[in-house]
Amino acid sequence: MDIAMDLGSCRTRIFIDKKGKVLDEASVAAYNVNTNEIIAVGDEAYAMLGKTPDSINAVFPIENSVISESNLIEDTINILLKHVCTSKIVMPRVVAAIPGDITEVEKRAVVNAISSFGVRRVYLIENTKAAAMGSGADIMSPYGTMIADLGGGTSNIAVLSLGGISVSKCIKLGGNILDDEIVKYIKNKYSLIIGNSMAENCKKAIGCLVEPEEETTFRVKGRDAVGGLPRFVDVTASEIMNVLLPPAMEIVGAIKDVLEETPPELIGDIYTDGIIITGGLARIKGFAKLIANSTGIAVKIADNPEDCVINGCGKAISYISEVEKNAKTELHPLMAAY
Ligand SMILES: Nc1ncnc2c1ncn2[C@@H]1O[C@H](COP(=O)(O)OP(=O)(O)OP(=O)(O)O)[C@@H](O)[C@H]1O
Ligand SMILES: [Mg+2]
Repeated sequence: MDIAMDLGSCRTRIFIDKKGKVLDEASVAAYNVNTNEIIAVGDEAYAMLGKTPDSINAVFPIENSVISESNLIEDTINILLKHVCTSKIVMPRVVAAIPGDITEVEKRAVVNAISSFGVRRVYLIENTKAAAMGSGADIMSPYGTMIADLGGGTSNIAVLSLGGISVSKCIKLGGNILDDEIVKYIKNKYSLIIGNSMAENCKKAIGCLVEPEEETTFRVKGRDAVGGLPRFVDVTASEIMNVLLPPAMEIVGAIKDVLEETPPELIGDIYTDGIIITGGLARIKGFAKLIANSTGIAVKIADNPEDCVINGCGKAISYISEVEKNAKTELHPLMAAY
């Protein structure tokens, strides 16, 4: 039995062939700073963020979709894979998603981390190809598909055709930066210090990128920057929109850059079918409309946008046998085997 993995900056997702997604947990590890021993991983470790005593550190070992803490990630992956791999899964082959602009060293880090679990082979696939496959697009046809996978750490944009990438761009800007902007704004405007999880909750609850139809508010709770005592303020959807628009427009700019470089034949297909957006950030209210208004092209939010990459990796498992038989001649979306 083979497995697929999406090691995202925010969430780690695992898929088992013929079963579907079996794990979806925060990409967080908590460890003892004195012994380096892992105390918790996934959602359990996420709940510890910002609340740990001095002896424990809880961190995201994947930053901007790239492994930043290689020792930690090996242990984290091992623990998560042990959760889901029953005795029937022995030396599986693994399909893992990686961002488009990853370096050879960063690729190696992903492969080494997964290999430490004892797998037969690791196949890599670009994030955008997996996202498109997971959204239901047929990327093997000679028809252009434009996909923008908008995650927590990165936005990966590509035009795909015949199983390959025609034009692409990857920027290190995603939902995490939107959260940072909310934290900064609340501190500057209200002298209130809030944590990133509070900012993320605010973004998910009232965040929107076009004028909200009706004004809603969200109560952010934190610590007074001067007095140090607990305090809250009620912020409105309109004011948060103004905070989120500048970084969101940078993502829109990257989408426009890709469109500008797309060959005319493929642009025709994209005009007809529209741009598909995937990733958790595709859920923020008004993003599809903002992109459509700025590009003049229709935008479709994929079903379950945050699961498109892992589901696409899962679909790509079916190409492993073809690749192993005849890697050179067959058309396939997989990148390399290690
Ligand atoms: N309903 C929502 N509204 C706004 N933002 C959301 C919503 N749901 C999820 N997000 C945001 O989506 C981001 C996570 O998306 P996703 O799970 O696709 O990221 P990831 O795959 O872990 O990261 P990356 O692909 O960048 O490495 C987070 O910033 C999260 O706050
Ligand atoms: Mg992702």
